Amino acid sequence: MERTLDHTLGNMLRNEIDWDAFDLTPNTKAFLKRVYASGLEKYEKRLTSLGFPGGERALDAGCGLGQWSVVLSGMCKEVSGIDVSEERVTACTAIADALKIGNTQFVSGPLEKLPYPDAHFDRLICYSVLYVTDYEKSIEEFARVTRAGGLVYISTNGIGRYLFDVVKRPNPAPDFDPRIYGLKTLWNSVIGRRSGLSSKNGAVAMYISRTRGLLEKNGFEIVKSGAEGSLGEGSAPFQPGRYFGFTGAFDILARKRES
Ligand SMILES: C[S@@+](CC[C@H](N)C(=O)[O-])C[C@H]1O[C@@H](n2cnc3c(N)ncnc32)[C@H](O)[C@@H]1O
Repeated sequence: MERTLDHTLGNMLRNEIDWDAFDLTPNTKAFLKRVYASGLEKYEKRLTSLGFPGGERALDAGCGLGQWSVVLSGMCKEVSGIDVSEERVTACTAIADALKIGNTQFVSGPLEKLPYPDAHFDRLICYSVLYVTDYEKSIEEFARVTRAGGLVYISTNGIGRYLFDVVKRPNPAPDFDPRIYGLKTLWNSVIGRRSGLSSKNGAVAMYISRTRGLLEKNGFEIVKSGAEGSLGEGSAPFQPGRYFGFTGAFDILARKRES
């Protein structure tokens, strides 16, 4: 089981899998190719640097297209991935099959109501998802399903990320305009969330001190926090920590307290 990202898997990812064959919408397929075709070493480095190897049961909360789950499958005995998108969950299962990975399971569902027993996991990652969920509820659920001593790694977005989306419009796709998404998120963050007039298709910007506070309130101790990719040694950031002087993506590593 102690398979890590060896050359065989790297070779399969780069040369053997036909990423175009996956039945996905254009934006999702473009993302699939961006993530997998360059290999998964940077994800492995990140999780290793945060102490994830050696886990019994890991949860990839908001697994998207499953790259973190694939990496976790070489580090932990069992890996569960959950995502609200059935399209993505189906893709994750197909990817795991193509890569002949036997210790992952993917289900569709919301983070706000996780279909797992209490204290089930000793590793949990939630990368770039919380800001599209009802994050207070999601964090309560993370606390419920994580056992004492378990590690939780959260990466989420501050307001700078959405200013960047509006100004620079990165990676537009026929079915996704980052500028519109950024505008909706700025609206939600400044007015919508407080007034109850949130746009359904946008996110909400999060703040590091408030997120740390929510984790602490829910029984976690903060191990470290900082700009995205800054917490572990040997793992380069995937994105800037600040845009135009405002917080972009930020990371928190927390440990569940012994009650
Ligand atoms: C930006 S992607 C990140 C995916 C993955 N964690 C990654 O690092 O690539 C956000 C993901 O959150 C999922 N999502 C959105 N709202 C959700 C919710 N309430 N519960 C679970 N997943 C959700 C989306 O379907 C999408 O796959």
